[in-house]
Amino acid sequence: MDQSIIFYYKKMLIDKIVIGNDHVGLGLFIELKDYFKSKNIDIDHYGCFNSDRMNYPEVAFKVSKSVALGKYSQGILICGTGMGMSLAANKIKGVRAVACNDPYSAKMAKNHNNANIICLGSRVIDVEMAELILDNWFNAKFEGGRHNVRVKMIDNYED
Ligand code: RB5
Repeated sequence: MDQSIIFYYKKMLIDKIVIGNDHVGLGLFIELKDYFKSKNIDIDHYGCFNSDRMNYPEVAFKVSKSVALGKYSQGILICGTGMGMSLAANKIKGVRAVACNDPYSAKMAKNHNNANIICLGSRVIDVEMAELILDNWFNAKFEGGRHNVRVKMIDNYED
């Protein structure tokens, strides 16, 4: 097959994604830029952009609202542990965010939980592990069926 067709086909598999980090997560975000480039994944970066101390909910809310509004189908948030970002992100209706620092959980978060935001911990994992986690995340699909019933129960509770 023509290489340019393969290139565009691969690009179509993953929509543009949104990514955000706090000052602690900035380093891992910078390290991951080459990964996104090598996988032809387009990203929109919502900050933060420097190492000045900031409050992670600010960026978690911005990224989460953009996913909830359907501007992006999925997002990535990076803080020290992934936990603060996920707590904040899950306050936005329509967001299913998981703090995830291992590849198996990343796969299952999509397979069973239809998660739409993954939150990584820059103080917990290195860039190699983050790449492995994201490979699992991007390659996994929601299985639906009985899991749909359970995810819908969570969505309905928001109303
Ligand atoms: C910032 O010190 C740290 O609390 C933050 O990056 C994150 O780990 C919160 O969950």
